[in-house]
Amino acid sequence: MTAYDFVVRNGTLIDGTGAPRRAADVAVKGDRISAVGAPGSLRCDSEIDATGLIVAPGFIDVHTHDDTALIDNPGMAMKASQGVTTVVCGNCGASASPYTRAEINHFLSLLVKKPENIAPSFAGFAAKVEAAGPALNGAFLVGHSTLRMSAMGEDLMRPATTAETAEMRELLDASLGEGAIGMSSGLFYPVARAATTDEVAETALPLGKWGGLYTAHMRDEADDILAAMDETFEIGRRAGAPVIVSHHKTSGRGNFGRMRETLPKFEDAMKRQEISFDVYPYVAGSTILRKEMLDRAERTLVTWSDTMPSASGRDIADVARELGCTPHEAADRIHPAGAIYFMMDEADVQAAMSHPGAMIGSDGIPFDTHPHPRLWGTFPRVLGHYCRELGLFPLEDAVRRMTAYPAARFRLTGRGTVRAGAYADLCLFDAATVIDTATFEKPISPAVGIHSVFCNGAAVWRDGKSAGGRAGRVLRLQELQAESRAGG
Ligand code: ZN
Ligand code: CU
Repeated sequence: MTAYDFVVRNGTLIDGTGAPRRAADVAVKGDRISAVGAPGSLRCDSEIDATGLIVAPGFIDVHTHDDTALIDNPGMAMKASQGVTTVVCGNCGASASPYTRAEINHFLSLLVKKPENIAPSFAGFAAKVEAAGPALNGAFLVGHSTLRMSAMGEDLMRPATTAETAEMRELLDASLGEGAIGMSSGLFYPVARAATTDEVAETALPLGKWGGLYTAHMRDEADDILAAMDETFEIGRRAGAPVIVSHHKTSGRGNFGRMRETLPKFEDAMKRQEISFDVYPYVAGSTILRKEMLDRAERTLVTWSDTMPSASGRDIADVARELGCTPHEAADRIHPAGAIYFMMDEADVQAAMSHPGAMIGSDGIPFDTHPHPRLWGTFPRVLGHYCRELGLFPLEDAVRRMTAYPAARFRLTGRGTVRAGAYADLCLFDAATVIDTATFEKPISPAVGIHSVFCNGAAVWRDGKSAGGRAGRVLRLQELQAESRAGG
């Protein structure tokens, strides 16, 4: 009998706070880290030899669309293989609940494949996630577009009426009361584009009362990005909520270099309200296929198509040649479909990612036939390519942007730091070899250099394959707040 379930020995600890690495052993009992001690000070019958490895907190993927992937694909290999132990779902205005319609709106099909996975209440949805027994933790935002579709049906090309806004507000209030951690919006998308700033701000009011947060896929990430930032910050202020700008980018050739404008604007606004942003480490984005976006992108790859499945993974120009039409016409003909758009500048991506306010989020789309490689590659790519190969930031800082910093910004009490009393979410990796292997050509491919991953003390990834742990939890707002008050 020993006091611990297992001890990770001889590793180099990077604890998530940004503090310099140090040699340390880590002991785990149940779902918690019970001790962090000098090398050799903690003994147990069950030991994991971490010689030559970094021992870090499990990574927090702050920007995902994994809401129902946690149900349909509970092993979550695409994230566990990267060292991720918590996913924040419901981003870009789209969540699987509270959704009061029977049919899946095509916008929601980005993240929901089965009608039985949608739910009219957040509590009902959270119960489905728990029943699936996922490997990883999930924290959930309520999507403003989902609220809109619940209140307005298919009649979305206009602002909500006062009565509809009140209904959306009540749905959000109930969801926060049941444990959702905040609200996301996606004013860029057609289903929400007609929403006014007032509509979103008035819907978002319960955030202040509950202590929830606001994430935004902004109305514009191109020519009018500065106005979109002002709108986003205003909604956060009016709701009394911290703001997280999603996947910060300046897209389109005409906007290359404009991080020189957006980053100082962020810094200025951060003096007055809590604002942060997330970044994915690629110059291409991915979302639904829209012909307006073809002109902005240097190159467009199809990620899936219901009407022409064989288009997946191919350049839209190539698909257009086969169909004997223009790329714009091809986009119409293969609709509904998804796409990858090459539309950012590498220097901008690096400037955003290395900014002190930046955290890492994959924005991976879990059900695409030929997904953007960020779904499997984001975190190892930051560690291997941007940190080790390019020296963009020290490893301690790279880990901080994936762990303690997002845990603080998303109020994920007890996560993101390796210390006694914290949850046993851990990632053991080899700093010398860790790298993504997923590419635009071959996107479904686990990273190398991720040795083992634990979520709530259960092994979820080991030696290049799933380890079977299914101890993931729904992280509910009130429980996180209660633990925070208790000093967790
Ligand atoms: Zn988005
Ligand atoms: Cu997204």
